[in-house]
Amino acid sequence: MTQSYLNEFKPPQRVLMGPGPSSVHPRVLQAMTLPILGHLDPQFFQVMDDVCDMLRLVLHTENFMTVPLSSTGTGAMEAACANVLERGDVAIVCRNGFFGVRLADIAQRCGAEVFVVDSPWGKPVDVKALERELKKHPKVKMVGVVHGETSTGVLTPLPEITALAHRYGALVVVDAVTTLGGHEMQMDQWGVDVVYGATQKCLGAPPGLAPISFGPRAMEVLKARKSDVQSFYFNMKGLETYWNETRAYHHTSPISMTYALRESLRMMMEEGIDRRIRRHARVAAALRAGLEALGLQLLADPGYRLNPLTTVVAPTGMEETAVRKRLLQEHSLEIGGGLGDLKGKVWRIGLMGESAREINVFALLSGLEQILPTLGYEVACGASLSAAQRALVEFDAAG
Ligand SMILES: Cc1ncc(COP(=O)(O)O)c(C=O)c1O
Repeated sequence: MTQSYLNEFKPPQRVLMGPGPSSVHPRVLQAMTLPILGHLDPQFFQVMDDVCDMLRLVLHTENFMTVPLSSTGTGAMEAACANVLERGDVAIVCRNGFFGVRLADIAQRCGAEVFVVDSPWGKPVDVKALERELKKHPKVKMVGVVHGETSTGVLTPLPEITALAHRYGALVVVDAVTTLGGHEMQMDQWGVDVVYGATQKCLGAPPGLAPISFGPRAMEVLKARKSDVQSFYFNMKGLETYWNETRAYHHTSPISMTYALRESLRMMMEEGIDRRIRRHARVAAALRAGLEALGLQLLADPGYRLNPLTTVVAPTGMEETAVRKRLLQEHSLEIGGGLGDLKGKVWRIGLMGESAREINVFALLSGLEQILPTLGYEVACGASLSAAQRALVEFDAAG
């Protein structure tokens, strides 16, 4: 019997067009091969400062406590809730998909009394329902909301929600895991108190770090805590002493991942944050036009569609996994399936970070044009490609 672990592992070159991770540029991968520095090396401190400076630019914030956590997005969700909430606090979580459900679960595990504002999966957060819930709970401490619901492809506009929550004295915690680097985030202007993301989506780095930022109101809440943060690893007060001028050891920093994030952010600065966000909007417009030309239905309503993630309803009777399997095997192209309530019913197509390229849109559409007819779903040959092309031209003409 051969022992496969004795063979060198050579992953195939995939085009990652699922809900994340997205494809990573060779420059970012190359950065991970740089020599390891100690996490208390002054040269590494410079890398840390560079990363924090660039994260502040992406978030449009002045918040000092803007750092990449050693974790994926879920860890940052835990960190946000664990630091803001104490046992018995009241939190309201807006749930319009899988990750809103997770956020409510985590808030509850942090000891909060959690009330939920549910909206149907595929719809944005219901702001009127949120206001009704806020009125019922005058002691509310936190409102949690997912900016881009990766399970449904829905974008929830934030400024109205933050203004509303602040009127009722609540901090606003925003999950920007899918939107960071792919949609605008004006943390300070919109009054977001805590925001977190993850490196493996629109930031264009591998999975493994989760940027998080705490605003002044959130820092006040942290200072005023009566109880210790239950998590040692994610305790922001502890972490602060590593990220501020004290430079005290807290835990060993993931050095290579920090290099990778620095390089991916540097690439974003070279491109320009606004141009990068526009690139995500441009390719998303082409993808949607192409999918609609195939006669496929998009789950999210126009006006609330995420650019980095498009959710498509699989045609009735079609085994959605068969399409994904063939895209992977025959085109080395990964797209995602449904999560939770949408399992087996939708495809989730990501155009995030380095994957958000028009060449990928055309590769996917032509793959679908080849595969769908073999599964009994007729398509007009080339229609999706010309619709996508037209959408790109129209997008550019609109300026
Ligand atoms: C909106 C959203 N929040 C949180 C997460 C969890 O992040 P991670 O899988 O990196 O832990 C994800 C992951 O896809 C996500 O899309």
